[in-house]
Amino acid sequence: MSYPTRVTVTEVGPRDGLQIEPVFVPTATKIRLINDLIAAGVRSFEATSFVSPRAVPQLRDAAEVIAGLDRSTGAKILALVPNPKGAELAAKAGVDGVVIVVSASESHNRSNLNRSVADSLAGFKDIVDIARGAGVDVHGAIATSFGCPFEGDVPLASVYRIADRFAELGIQVIGVCDTTGMATPLQVSRVCTAMQARYPGKTWDLHFHNTRGLGLANVLAGLQAGVGHYDSSLGGLGGCPFAPGATGNICTEDLVHMLHEMDIETGIDLGKLVEAAHSLERTIGRVLPGQVMKAGPRLTLHACDAVARAVG
Ligand code: COA
Ligand code: ZN
Repeated sequence: MSYPTRVTVTEVGPRDGLQIEPVFVPTATKIRLINDLIAAGVRSFEATSFVSPRAVPQLRDAAEVIAGLDRSTGAKILALVPNPKGAELAAKAGVDGVVIVVSASESHNRSNLNRSVADSLAGFKDIVDIARGAGVDVHGAIATSFGCPFEGDVPLASVYRIADRFAELGIQVIGVCDTTGMATPLQVSRVCTAMQARYPGKTWDLHFHNTRGLGLANVLAGLQAGVGHYDSSLGGLGGCPFAPGATGNICTEDLVHMLHEMDIETGIDLGKLVEAAHSLERTIGRVLPGQVMKAGPRLTLHACDAVARAVG
């Protein structure tokens, strides 16, 4: 079995994570979170989204967040945008790239973006022109690629319909997103193989949620298919506010721990990630789903005489 030797981890917690939190996380805290992760070696972020502040009030400070980020390391700062207005605002704020999003299923697209898939597809050209005109890179993201909470299984033809449009627009990086954690490893293998065959040379970015505990199993299936880009959230924060039962993304430090144990490089300092996860947990005020932040890396040893002995 041959896996990629290096993986790019895109931290999406500041966007996918914080968008669903009931409280507004202060701008300075968001900035500190991202800058701490840059200091830990993370080099790709979905830092925020430029969407309607009425739809997602938690991210209404998008421009201020971008303005506060440490750009000295060249970490790629992306923002999710749903429409041309979002692209204009993101470009003005100084992002490196925008992620244009559409769902493969009609009902989730209406719930998330208040329009049909056809209307979303028709609007992409304007978004791409605005972004590229401002020197901003464009990534595509296909939500509900592995299943829709309203419609169930999503036919591959619906995913192709969107990827075809991204390909026509010359978009290189395409996110295949499991918005509500419906993917299974076998399905990931099939979808990755099919997409790689249909669109050779594209860069695939897999976006999993751990809603049903299959997140890292799905990553393993992606690695086996040769995919080298994954989205994750510090502490396992996350979820789409416009999908019922949505829960956290796969957890960044658990992902990095697994990759390092497989001798796959990420350039990320796991210890610093764990520190940042604890700090995030204090900010959020509840226990986060991440596991390595609780147990430590697998060779975290304990003094034998420091624990109780089971003597009868
Ligand atoms: N940034 C800031 N404001 C925006 C905006 C953007 N990208 N897009 C629209 N708005 C504002 C409009 O200016 C308008 O404001 P006004 O009423 O004060 O004039 C208002 O939002 C409604 O605009 P409209 O174009 O009619 O949008 P809509 O109500 O049909 O909603 C979206 C469509 C796409 C803007 C909205 O559904 C949205 O923001 N969705 C994002 C959801 C999301 O982030 N989901 C999680 C990620 S997968
Ligand atoms: Zn997501």
